[in-house]
Amino acid sequence: MTSDGAISGDEGFYHQAYDITEERTKQFYADWAATYDKELVDGRDYAQPARCADAFERHLAPGGEPIADLGCGTGLLGRTLSERGYTTLDGVDYSPEMLALARATGLYRRLWSADLNEALDIPNGTYAGVAAMGVFSFGHVYADALDEMMRILRPGGVLIIGVNEVFVNEGTLTPKIDGLAAAGTAEVAESGYGDHMPESGVNGWVYVLRRT
Ligand SMILES: C[S@@+](CC[C@H](N)C(=O)[O-])C[C@H]1O[C@@H](n2cnc3c(N)ncnc32)[C@H](O)[C@@H]1O
Repeated sequence: MTSDGAISGDEGFYHQAYDITEERTKQFYADWAATYDKELVDGRDYAQPARCADAFERHLAPGGEPIADLGCGTGLLGRTLSERGYTTLDGVDYSPEMLALARATGLYRRLWSADLNEALDIPNGTYAGVAAMGVFSFGHVYADALDEMMRILRPGGVLIIGVNEVFVNEGTLTPKIDGLAAAGTAEVAESGYGDHMPESGVNGWVYVLRRT
């Protein structure tokens, strides 16, 4: 770690995150949870919480409309959305260690454990906003999970996806988004390329899909 707190190279956990298998992912977050925020926020200047919150502000006015933070992790997005006036936040993650830290923020109305690659126990059209920030990746959540994410959105609601460019370049996510648009399920309201993990030289995308 440098004197200003930045982490580079193969310190910490982040450098392993694009090279793990589904079997290892839960244990990876159990091991990382306690130092996750320090590494990503202080060490690597994680840009997605601000970028995704900016996208919410452009498409869903702050207030009490319900938002689901899928793969909420330690609650970094919940903190940013809460600072910007979003007050009804639910969080889902399959890591008990990450969920415990999200719970400690005191900012979520409900938090529960579920695998985002499977059917979600959430009624159709429950949410005005859904976030999937940092969850689409190798050994994490796959493009087909978008069907469930769209199902739990109200018509007119928005799904905000923050994703690293390495996984976008893997090539399964954007064809799935295009398929939802072609089927008339969603409209791509935005797709923006920019910072993801600037201190590590990784860029990323923010996609905004509006449920039709
Ligand atoms: C890189 S972290 C992102 C956390 C948070 N959204 C953020 O951006 O800081 C990925 C999160 O997704 C969760 N996750 C990975 N695969 C999952 C799955 N199949 N179902 C539910 N959660 C999953 C992990 O437990 C972890 O908390």
